Amino acid sequence: MSDKVYIFDTTLRDGEQSAGIGFTIEDKLEIARALARMNVDIIEAGFPISSLGDLEAVSLIAREVKGPVIAGLARANLADIDACWEGVRRAETPRIHVFISTSDMHMAHQLRKNREDVLEMVRVAVARAASYTSDVEFSPMDASRSDPEFVFQILQAAIEEGATTVNIPDTVGYAIPAEFGALVKTITERVPNIDRARISVHCHNDLGMAVANSLAGVQNGARQVEGAINGIGERAGNTSIEEVIMAIRTRTDFLGLHTDVNTREIYPISRLVERVSGMAVQSNKAIVGKNAFRHSSGIHQDGVLKMRETYEIMDPAEIGVPAGGSIVLTKVSGRHGLRARLDDLGASLSEEEFSRVYDAFKELADRRDEVDDRDLEAILSEQTSMHVAEQWTLDLVQVTAGDHTAPTATVRLVGPDGTMHEDAAIGSGPVDAIYKAINRVMHVTNELTEFSVKSVTEGIDAQGEVTIRIEADGGSFTGRAADTDILVASARAYVHALNRYINAHTQLQAAPRV
Ligand code: KIV
Ligand code: ZN
Repeated sequence: MSDKVYIFDTTLRDGEQSAGIGFTIEDKLEIARALARMNVDIIEAGFPISSLGDLEAVSLIAREVKGPVIAGLARANLADIDACWEGVRRAETPRIHVFISTSDMHMAHQLRKNREDVLEMVRVAVARAASYTSDVEFSPMDASRSDPEFVFQILQAAIEEGATTVNIPDTVGYAIPAEFGALVKTITERVPNIDRARISVHCHNDLGMAVANSLAGVQNGARQVEGAINGIGERAGNTSIEEVIMAIRTRTDFLGLHTDVNTREIYPISRLVERVSGMAVQSNKAIVGKNAFRHSSGIHQDGVLKMRETYEIMDPAEIGVPAGGSIVLTKVSGRHGLRARLDDLGASLSEEEFSRVYDAFKELADRRDEVDDRDLEAILSEQTSMHVAEQWTLDLVQVTAGDHTAPTATVRLVGPDGTMHEDAAIGSGPVDAIYKAINRVMHVTNELTEFSVKSVTEGIDAQGEVTIRIEADGGSFTGRAADTDILVASARAYVHALNRYINAHTQLQAAPRV
C-alpha cells in the first residue's frame, strides 16, 4: 500500500457549516486558491444543491482553481447529483461526493427508510455520479454508529457502481481511536472489492478525538483524511487538517507515511480562515495557535535558546510561522521594507492591495513608535481578504459620550455613487449611537449578533481590533476593523459587514438558476 496520505480539505463545505460562519464567494475563492498553493489533494468546494450561492461558488472554484481535485457534495438522489455535476464539471479533475445515512437511528428517524431502500438509493445515486465522472466518493453517514455488516454491504455496492473513494465518517464525533481504527481495518478485510477504492476518514471533534481517530484510521489502512483548516465545522468542528498534516510529517519515523502538502502555507491559510470566518483560533491551539511556539518559563527559554529542539518538536518555519525578522517598521520605513515584512508573513498581494496596506500602515505608523507583525496582520485582515468591493465608506465619525450625557454619534459616509451622507443618532452607549446613525444612512435591516474587541498588541497605544457579526436576510456576515480608537474601529467594522451583506445580496440576485 502506498505511503501517501491524500489530504481532502472541507473548510468550504463542512467548515462553513459552523454555526455563525457565512463565507462570501470572494472568501471562498481566496481560500480555495490558498488551499491550492498549499497543495492539498482535494478541495470540497461546497454543496451545490443547497443554494444558488453555493452552486455559483463551486462552479467558480472549479473554473479558476487548478491543481487539486474539486469536489462537490450531493445527497443520494438524482437532483443533488445533477446539481453537483453542474457545479464541478469545469474543474480539471471533478469529483462527486455522494452520501447517505446508514445508522439504524438515522435511517428510521431521519430518512424514514429501511436498509433495502437505502441500499438501492446508493446504487442508483453512485451509478448516476459515475456516469458523469470517474472520480466518485461515497460516504455512509454516521458510519461509526452503524451496523458494521450493513456498512460493509453498502460499501461493496457503492464500489460496484463506480465509487473510487469510500469515506468513513464519524459524523457525531462518537468514536474512540482504537475502536475507529478497528472499524477501518475490518473494512479492509471484509469488503471484497475494497482494493478498487481508497479508504478515507472524516471525523468530528465532539469528544476532542477527531485528529486521533483520523490517525487511527490511517494506521489501519485509510489513505485519505478529511478535515478543515483550524478545525472549523459543525458543533465542535471537524478534524483540524493542519494537525493531521504535521503529525504525519513530524512522526514519519513512527507512522511511515507522508503527504504532499507544502506545510509552509499552513500558518498563512490558518490566519486567512480565521479572518474571513471571524472564528478566532484559540491561543494554545496546536500548530497554529499564537502560543504554539512561544516559551514562557525560564527553563524552557533557556533550553530553546541553547538548542531549539529541546522544547520544540517542529520548526515553526516549516509551518510558515513568521520569524519576527530583523526589519523594524516605523514611520520612516519605505515600501521596500514593508514589502519584505509582508513577504515573510506569507501575504501575496496585488499592487492595488499593497497600496491600500501601505497607506494603512503609514497612517498607523504616524501614531505608533513601531508597527509589529500583529499590527500588520490586522491591517492585512482589513485591507485584503476582508476587503469587499466598497459600496459605502466611512468618512467621519464623531462621538460625544460620558457619564453625564446621552451618547450621541454623527457619521458621514460616502455612498456607492460618490455622494456624501451625514446623520446623527443617540444610543444607549457610544457604539449603539454610531450603529444607529449608520443605520439611518445605509438602511439595511439587520441584527447585531456578535461584537468583540481585542487588543492587537500590548500597550496604551495598541490598536483595538473589533470583530462583529450581523444577521440579515437569513445570512450571517462578519466585519472587522482595527484602529487605535476603538470607536472608529467599531464604526468601520460595521460598515464592512454591511458592505459584505450588500455584495452577497447583489451576487445572489445575479446568480443563475439550476
Ligand atoms: O460528517 C459527515 O458525516 C459528513 C458527510 C457528508 C461526509 O460531513
Ligand atoms: Zn462532517
